[in-house]
Amino acid sequence: MNKWIRPNFTPCLPLGDNQSRITECCRHRQLSRTAAGEGMVLLKNDHCLLPFKKGTKLAVFGKSQIDYVKGGGGSGDVTVSYVRNIYQGLKTKSEYLEVFDPLSLYYQEYVESQYENGEIPGLLNEAAVPSHLLSKAREFTDTAVIVIGRYSGENWDRKNDGTDDYFDLSKTESDMVKAVTDHFPRVAVLLNVGAMINTAWFADNDKISSALIVWQGGQEGGLAAADILTGEVNPSGKLADTCAKSFDDYPSSAGFHESEAYVKYTEDIFVGYRYFETIPGKKDCVVYPFGYGLSYTSFVFSHASACSDGKNIFVTVTITNTGSQAGKEVAQVYYCPPRGQLTKPLKILCGFEKTKLLAPGESEELCISFPIQDMASFDDTGVIALSSYVLEKGTYNIYVGNNVRDAKQVNYSFRLEEPVITERLHPYCSPQKLDQRLKEDGTYETFHSTPAPKASFVCDYKEASKPDRDYHLIDIAEGKIDLDSFMAQLTDEELCRLAAGQPSRGVANTGGMGALDRLGIPAVMTADGPAGVRIHKDCGVNTTAFPIATALAATWNLNLIEEIGQAGALEVKENNLSIWLTPALNIHRSPLCGRNFEYYSEDPFLSGKMAAAAVKGIQSQNIAAVPKHFACNNKETNRKESDSILSERALREIYLKGFEICVKEAKPKIIMTSYNIINGVRASENTQLLTGILRGEWGFDGLVISDWNNHGDHEQELKAGNDIKMPIGSPEKLMEGLKSKTLSREQLCVSVKRLLEMILWLE
Ligand code: BGC
Repeated sequence: MNKWIRPNFTPCLPLGDNQSRITECCRHRQLSRTAAGEGMVLLKNDHCLLPFKKGTKLAVFGKSQIDYVKGGGGSGDVTVSYVRNIYQGLKTKSEYLEVFDPLSLYYQEYVESQYENGEIPGLLNEAAVPSHLLSKAREFTDTAVIVIGRYSGENWDRKNDGTDDYFDLSKTESDMVKAVTDHFPRVAVLLNVGAMINTAWFADNDKISSALIVWQGGQEGGLAAADILTGEVNPSGKLADTCAKSFDDYPSSAGFHESEAYVKYTEDIFVGYRYFETIPGKKDCVVYPFGYGLSYTSFVFSHASACSDGKNIFVTVTITNTGSQAGKEVAQVYYCPPRGQLTKPLKILCGFEKTKLLAPGESEELCISFPIQDMASFDDTGVIALSSYVLEKGTYNIYVGNNVRDAKQVNYSFRLEEPVITERLHPYCSPQKLDQRLKEDGTYETFHSTPAPKASFVCDYKEASKPDRDYHLIDIAEGKIDLDSFMAQLTDEELCRLAAGQPSRGVANTGGMGALDRLGIPAVMTADGPAGVRIHKDCGVNTTAFPIATALAATWNLNLIEEIGQAGALEVKENNLSIWLTPALNIHRSPLCGRNFEYYSEDPFLSGKMAAAAVKGIQSQNIAAVPKHFACNNKETNRKESDSILSERALREIYLKGFEICVKEAKPKIIMTSYNIINGVRASENTQLLTGILRGEWGFDGLVISDWNNHGDHEQELKAGNDIKMPIGSPEKLMEGLKSKTLSREQLCVSVKRLLEMILWLE
C-alpha cells in the first residue's frame, strides 16, 4: 500500500546527526540486540555445553527457529522491516558454527505452508520430526538444539487444558524432545517464550545439558541468541518470575479460568516467590527460583555487610569474577520481616544492582540502600492500626545473593522493640466479595469484608476571569497569559471535547488528545508500546522492536531500561507523536495471562523499578510516558467486565506497589486506567483509586486517561478523576451532564487543565 503515503501521513524531520533518521536506526537495533542478550537467562549448563566450541556442528529442531516470536500480539506488537530468527542468527556465525541446513529448511517450508494456510503464527502447531532427517542430522553431528516457542496476545488468555497447552509441552513437542534426546548425546534447549512455561522436563533430564530462555527478544532476537550460544555475550539475565514444577503449583491456577465475571485473588499477598518461599512445603515445587540465572563464568559474593542510619538500610557486598570469562552479576537484597500479628512472606525483594562487565579476577563493591519504612506491611483489618503501613516489632533480617533461594543472611539485622506506624492511609477499594485469603502457614483465614466508608472529594477549582482578547496556548509558554486565565476562554462545548480523545493524525493509529484550532491547542498523538513504537502499519515507517518487557526485567539493568526508554521516545518524537503508551506493569499473577509479555514480573518492586527507569528515559525527551493498566488487569478474558476481587492489602502491597514506586520515583505525566473492575468498581470510575490513592496519597499531579473503548461512563469517569476518555469519549454526554447539573464546569476544568499542563510540557 504505497498510494497517498505523503498526503495521508505527514513525513517528519529526522532527529539524528546530519539529518539522519533515528527511527529503527542501526544504533537502536543494536541496543535492542544488546538488551535481548542481556535479558536471556541461562537455566542449565551441565558439562559446560554452552557456549558451543568453535567448529561445533548443530542440528536445530523446532519450527520456532524460523517462526521466531519477536514479541506478543495486539497493541504491544510493532511493525518492523525485518526480524532475525534463530536460524538466521546462527548462520551469521558460520565462521564459528555449522548448521545442518536440510533440517532447518524443512522447518522453513513447514512454516511457510502454515502462513499460506492462514494459520496464526507462533501457535502450538509444532512440526513432527521426520525420521529420515533425524538420522541424517545425527550423521552430521552429535549436538542438537531444540527451540520451543510460545505466542500470546492481547484480549485472550492462554490455556493449559491438555489440548491447548501453553505451560506444558504439546504432544508433538514432547515427541520431538524424546526423538532428539534419544539420538543426540549433546542437547541444548532454547525457550522463545513470553511468560513462564514448564521447565521441569529439562531440569530433571540428564539427556538435556543446557537450557536458555531467549524470551521474545525483539527484531534482533535471533542474533542475540546466537551471540550467547557462541559465547560472544556471556549470559547475565535473571528470572523475574518463579519457575514452578507444574502449572497447578502456581496458587492462581485453580481459579484462573473459574469465571469470566470475576477473579478471586485468594492467595492474597502470596504471589510468585512470596508464595513458594513462605508457604510450608511449597519450596519443593520450585524448579528455578526467582532471581536465578547462570553465567559462563563464576562469581563470589564476599564482605557482605549492612548498617542503618535510622532511616535507611545500606547493604554492601563485593562481587568477584572468579572464572575465566568476563561477565556481569546481579546482587539482590531481600528482607525477612518478623513473624507477628500480620501474616508476612519470608523474603521480599527490596533492592538490587547489576555489576559492570567484570573481567576475570576483577571485583566490584556494590552498595544498595532502601528506606526502612519500605519493609512495612499494610494492615487492612486493624490488627495493629487500620489502613496503615506498619512495621511490626521484632527482627528484620537482610539477605543478599543472586537469587531469592540462595541469598545469604548478612551479619546485621534491624530490630524494633515496638511497632511503628509508618503511614496512616485510608480504607479505599475494599472488597465485598472476598471470603477467604491465604496466610503464611498455608491455611486460609475467613475474610469478613466491611463496606468501605464513602469517601468524598472536593473539587476546589476557581475559575479565573476571562481575558479581553483571544490567547493561544503558545502565549502561556511565552509568558503572556497564565493557564487559569487561558482556561476561562474555553466554552463548555470545548471543555467537553477536550476531555475526550481525538482522531488519529499522521502516522498515529491510536488517536490522541487536545486539538482545538481556535485557541491553538495542538493535536498531540499517542503511540502504543511497550516493546517498541506501534504506529499505523501501512504508513511506510517501521520502528525498532525491542525485547518484551519480561525480557527487559530479566536484565535487572536499570540503566539499559532507561536507555531503551530514551531511544523509543526519540522514535515517538521523530514521527511527530507525543505520548508513548508504555510502560505496562501489571503483575504476572498467572502464567496464562495473554499479556504477560508486556509486563515485567511477578514482583512489584522489580516491576516498579523497571517502570520508573523506563519513564525517566522516555520523559528525558519531553515525551509523555503512560504507565498502564492501573490496576489489577492480570487476566485478559472478558477484561472489560471482569471483577478483580482482592484484599486491600494485596492491592496495596502487590498490585499497586509497582505503580506507586513508579509515580513517586519518576513522576509520569500520564497514567492509563485499566478496563477491569476492582472490588465492584470499574477502575476508570474508581474515585477511591484515582482521587484517593493515586492523587491524594501518592501526590500524582498528572493526567489520567482511560484504556481504549472501555465500558465506563464518561461522566462518572471524569468525576472519579479519570480526566480523558480514549479514544473518542462521549463529549455530548458531558454536555448533558452540565445541562442537568450532575456535572460542574469546575470539574471539567480540573481535568482539562491537567491536559493542557501536560501539553505545555511536551516538546
Ligand atoms: C490496550 C492498551 C493500548 C490501547 C491503545 C488497548 O486495547 O489495552 O494497552 O495502549 O489499546 O491501543
